[in-house]
This record gives sequence, C-alpha cells and structure tokens, in this order.
Amino acid sequence: MTIQWFPGHMTAARKEAAKALALNDVVIEVCDARLPEASSNPMIRELRLHRQRPCLKLLNKADLADPAATQAWLDFYNRQPNVKAVALSCRKQGEAARVPVLCKALAPHRNDTFKPLRMLIMGIPNVGKSTLMNALLKRRVAAVGDEPAVTLQQQRIDISPTMSVTDTPGLMWPKIEHDSDGYMLAASHAIGRNAVIDSEVGIFLAGLLLQRYPALLAARYGIAVDGMDGVAAVEAIARKRGCISKGRHGGEPDLEKAAMILLTDYRSGKLGRISLETPENRAAMLAAGNTSSSE
Ligand code: G4P
Repeated sequence: MTIQWFPGHMTAARKEAAKALALNDVVIEVCDARLPEASSNPMIRELRLHRQRPCLKLLNKADLADPAATQAWLDFYNRQPNVKAVALSCRKQGEAARVPVLCKALAPHRNDTFKPLRMLIMGIPNVGKSTLMNALLKRRVAAVGDEPAVTLQQQRIDISPTMSVTDTPGLMWPKIEHDSDGYMLAASHAIGRNAVIDSEVGIFLAGLLLQRYPALLAARYGIAVDGMDGVAAVEAIARKRGCISKGRHGGEPDLEKAAMILLTDYRSGKLGRISLETPENRAAMLAAGNTSSSE
C-alpha cells in the first residue's frame, strides 16, 4: 500500500508556514511521542533550518508512549544542535505550562514588551497542536478534533505582554518516503480514515506489536500469539470478539472490524503504553532501505 497525501490546502499551508517562521523566534514542533520521527514532517525541519530558528521538539502524548523508548528519543533529539526536546502530555495543563519556560531558554534575548518572545506551533495533523494551544491559553480557542487537518488558519494570541503563540495548520508532506511511516501515521490517525484501508493498517500494527509488545497483545485479547503473523493475530482478534462476516463469504473472520478494534484500542491507550519506533529500530529500518512500494 502506498499512502499519498497532498490536498491543495497543504501547499498553501506550507507557504503560510514559511512566512510564519520568518515572523517568529522559536518553533515548537509537536510530534507524537509514540512515533517521533515518522510524525516529524521533513518540510518543517527544512523550513526551520533554513530560517535558523531554535526548536523545542515536543514529544506529545507521552502518556500513551513507552517511557523507555521516549527517553531514548529525548537523548537522540537533545544531541541535535539548536534543539531542546521534551516529552509531555498537553492534555495536562500543568505539563504544558513548562513549554513557555523552555522556549524562553531557547531565545533569551526576546524578553520584554519591545521584543516579546514569539512562539510558533507546528506539526502534522492530530499530534496535539490545538490541545497545546488551549492549554497554554488556559481556554479553548483552537478547534481540537481527532480528524486530521481540523486547524485551517494561523492564529496568533498574546499569552502575556512579553509572549505570544501562533498556531499553524497541520502540515503533511507530498510523499511519505517509507511505507512503514505511512502505516504508523495511519495507525495513530494522523492520516485520515478515507486515505487508508483499516484492515491493512491493523495487520501492520498487529505485526509490529507481535515484534515489540507481544505480551500486551496476548493479554488484551486473550490470544496465544506464539508463531503468529499480523494477519493471524487480526483473525484471532476477530474470532475472540465475534467479528464474523455475513453474506456470500459468511462465517469468515471480519478482518476490517477486528482491525478497527485493535486500532481503537491502540489509539486510546487501552492496549498499554506503546511506542511504534525507537531510535535503534528506526536506524535499522533506514539501513535496510525500506522505501515506498511505488518507487
Ligand atoms: P492537532 O491540533 O495537532 O490536529 O491535534 P489536536 O489538538 O486536535 O489533538 C488530536 C487528538 O489528540 C485529540 O483527541 C486530543 O485530545 C488528543 N491529544 C492531544 N494531546 C494529547 C496528549 O498529550 N495525550 C493524549 N492521550 N491525547 C492527546 P480527541 O479524541 O479528538 O479529542 P478529545 O475528545 O480527547 O478532546
């Protein structure tokens, strides 16, 4: 499966993002702590490097991610120049309150009413940008939703006389280079429902969980996972949960339904704290040359 994602408004959003970068001091790049690299838009990195803006790399949804993997990612990003990485949960206002302090440290010269600190929130859809904005402002100003690309316009809001924050639309890029990134993004719902086939995404997720968290899969669905592959695991979930198709092919496990159960459980954290990638397995994936099947 190849995931292509390039609605027209993404082109416009890129142009707007480039303009916004010129007018701001620190980029808060929000990504999903469960898949930090797969959920980092290479275009955002390219834009901020071009403008030489310091970056607060915010690994959000840390409450859903595996703490050991998150620590490995923090170490990975904190070695990069001009980057400070932090893992937190923007749903918790107290944790989000750390963000302005961290941004201040990245641009200490922007500290008064003449030179207020201007923070720019960027990231792909559904990583929690609007949730962060709302937490920073302590009120609901941004459209928060679990569907990609809900935020369509930039909005700059003053947090205090010496600090402002600007929200940008979820920014995807024209071509996802690695198939596995596309699947991880779809599993985590950064790519919309109509862009992907749930059963394929569910089978990918099951395969990944069998490698990295087999005990969580076995415990949640009461299945023996030894020797299984992704398809067998989704079939087993279908049988356990009574997802059996009707009609001409009646009596067969309904993979679509079972995949949705698995995806919903993963997205909500019911399966446990899971990270889909670590710096180590990402490096191995890149070394193995996993690229899109369309190439
Ligand atoms: P976006 O602007 O980047 O597109 O993302 P948005 O803030 O709309 O967040 C997308 C979904 O992720 C929302 O779920 C939001 O609550 C959830 N989310 C954001 N930050 C965190 C976090 O730190 N931890 C967890 N577990 N979830 C987070 P939703 O189900 O659509 O909305 P809601 O019903 O929960 O409000």
